[in-house]
Amino acid sequence: MSSPRYAAIMGWGMAVPRRVVTNDELAQRIDTSNEWILTRTGITQRHVAGPDEFTSVLATAAGREALERAGVAPEAVDTLIVATCTPDRPFPATASAVQRNLGIPRAGAFDLAAACSGFVYGLSVGTGLIKSGMSQTLLLVAADVFTSLIDWEDRNTCVLFGDGAGAVVLRATEQPYGLLASNIGSWGEGETMMAVDVGGTREPATPALLEQRRQYVYMHGREIFKHAVRGMCESAERAVADAGVSLDAIKLVVPHQANLRIIEAVAKRLALPMNRFFVNLDRYGNTSAASVPIALYEAVQQGRLVAGDLVLLTAFGGGLTWGSCVVRWGMSPQ
Ligand code: ACO
Repeated sequence: MSSPRYAAIMGWGMAVPRRVVTNDELAQRIDTSNEWILTRTGITQRHVAGPDEFTSVLATAAGREALERAGVAPEAVDTLIVATCTPDRPFPATASAVQRNLGIPRAGAFDLAAACSGFVYGLSVGTGLIKSGMSQTLLLVAADVFTSLIDWEDRNTCVLFGDGAGAVVLRATEQPYGLLASNIGSWGEGETMMAVDVGGTREPATPALLEQRRQYVYMHGREIFKHAVRGMCESAERAVADAGVSLDAIKLVVPHQANLRIIEAVAKRLALPMNRFFVNLDRYGNTSAASVPIALYEAVQQGRLVAGDLVLLTAFGGGLTWGSCVVRWGMSPQ
């Protein structure tokens, strides 16, 4: 049997925690203001996970919705990828818990860690598995409880992030839908531009290190800003060229939702109007790997994408990682 040429997106789902934390609520706890957060980032609120809303819980909810929407039974899934940098446990993979929760028997299941670029990386890897013939039906979930890494006393980071999950079902097809071209990149020299130093094998947590609050994320925001714009623009231009289309043919750009000013800088550099970019970071903040699929979900829900449209996904994250995907949305009626 010859390998399928495409992997169409058949279903999509999302989940966010119940609790909403507004900028004003944060301003009551730390030295910040709604005005500062809004003008520097565009964020007005974020969803923050409670103790019963850990990564696999959100991932399971998003994955279940995607399967239902696709009309795909859990038994039909042969591969499950969970893109996350905030796993339930250090070991084993969070994908194992999601697999159990969804009742997916015996599929290959693994985690993929590419921080905020996780969904774009996952879509590239997942499509590759389908194109090679190794997978027929694949569930890709991107989920992060990034607030678990946040020091709520650090105003440089705590205002930026929220929690959530997004998922898609990919299925082998001969029709030209799904991922048409993608590229992923990383710059290892930037490993500590944004990181959590303590709690892994390099620096295991000790009471003294925890006392110093070293288990939380730190970042060099301004430097990341510059690399983010460059990484997203260069990979977007390459993906569009590799897909054999022009930027004009792209109906909608769904970028990683970290900061409105980063998205505006990308729009300017790509010479595209802001009305071609989907933005929902005002309500969710930066949800790490979940950000792109949550935005994609809402874009579809709002009628900004219909079957046959070309959509450009572009993201960057810790690592530093980045990547872009050109996707033909939907699938023609059978
Ligand atoms: N409230 C009030 N003041 C603040 C706050 C806050 N929440 N946070 C920082 N400040 C202060 C700083 O202390 C600084 O004060 P100083 O000049 O007295 O030292 C001042 O505001 C300006 O700080 P800058 O760093 O210059 O602010 P900037 O305009 O660069 O915006 C920001 C900061 C929003 C972090 C921006 O640089 C950014 O978005 N960078 C990208 C970060 C990012 O997206 N990271 C996620 C990567 S994706 C992933 O993998 C999860």
